[in-house]
Amino acid sequence: MKTEIITLLRERGTYVSGQELCEQFGVSRTAVWKAIEQLKKDGYVIEAVKNRGYLLREERETAVFGRTELESRLSTNWAGKQLYYFDTIDSTNLKAKSLAEEGAPHGTLVVADEQTAGRGRRGRAWISPAGSNIYFTLLLRPQIAPDKASMLTLVMALALSEGIRQVCVPQKGDDAAAQQPKSAATGIKWPNDIVVDGRKACGILTEMSLSVEMDAIQYLVIGVGINVAQQEFAEELKGHAIALEEVYEPIGRSSLLVAVMENFEKYYEQFAEAQSLQPLQEAYNGLLLNKDRQVRVLDPKGEFDGIARGIKETGELLVELPDGSIREIYAGEVSVRGIYGYV
Ligand code: BTN
Repeated sequence: MKTEIITLLRERGTYVSGQELCEQFGVSRTAVWKAIEQLKKDGYVIEAVKNRGYLLREERETAVFGRTELESRLSTNWAGKQLYYFDTIDSTNLKAKSLAEEGAPHGTLVVADEQTAGRGRRGRAWISPAGSNIYFTLLLRPQIAPDKASMLTLVMALALSEGIRQVCVPQKGDDAAAQQPKSAATGIKWPNDIVVDGRKACGILTEMSLSVEMDAIQYLVIGVGINVAQQEFAEELKGHAIALEEVYEPIGRSSLLVAVMENFEKYYEQFAEAQSLQPLQEAYNGLLLNKDRQVRVLDPKGEFDGIARGIKETGELLVELPDGSIREIYAGEVSVRGIYGYV
């Protein structure tokens, strides 16, 4: 009922009487009062005025992150419709995988405020303190061949990058006269890191379970960590990691996650229909920070330099070599670096 109350109070934007809430949800006045008290504990500011009722004050929207807030804002058809929220958990990827084994449906979303055993790529840890970032995992049961699964990580990268553009408001630069936003370079570093100002702000870890015959995907989980307001990074990450609030105004974590889910659902449907990234290629390439820039391909068989020309409809990066020929780079096999830094 908490979600329904918040949705109604937000829609009205004015006082709603306790009596109306009772009638609307078919519950007693005490039940309404209890739900309102719980919502206040969750961080909502709700005024109660005698003879007028309850009013939701949303100035502190940025502070509320939780199940009620996410459910009351999500307008997707399936992405996040089944939602699990944890104040603390070992890893949302682990939880999503165990829910998948128990039969949880396509689109199940697991969100946490803190992870005690967050996992990154290449067996690394993903340090996940409470109260400042976003950690989530989306469970999918895609009807695609296993060799197309890695493309879904690119779909998520696109949804994230777009979500940041839609929701986050750039801080103005120090030079007030210039009024330059500090965040000019937010985009994707192929294949799926979200980079702000030359440093990584979001990471994606996709894991897949195949059917016994190995010819079909049983399920796939896409785990995402977004550094929103983290103040300090581990020594080895300094210079490589950034939190969005270093360059953007304070961010509503719920608003950002909702935008990412809505984008993902839209892009996923386009991808699933085409069975390729072709409908998303232009949008992805438009956000690709390496595009038309000199890159170094760290191929174990031998490094080489070229100019990144964007992705193919199957997700490989096209790199133009000095002789004008084009090489296709497969994610996972090699890493691509800018000549003068990380991007
Ligand atoms: C990377 O190394 O770049 C990928 C990091 C992925 C971290 C996220 S946080 C939510 C989800 N749960 C995990 O344990 N890992 C992913």
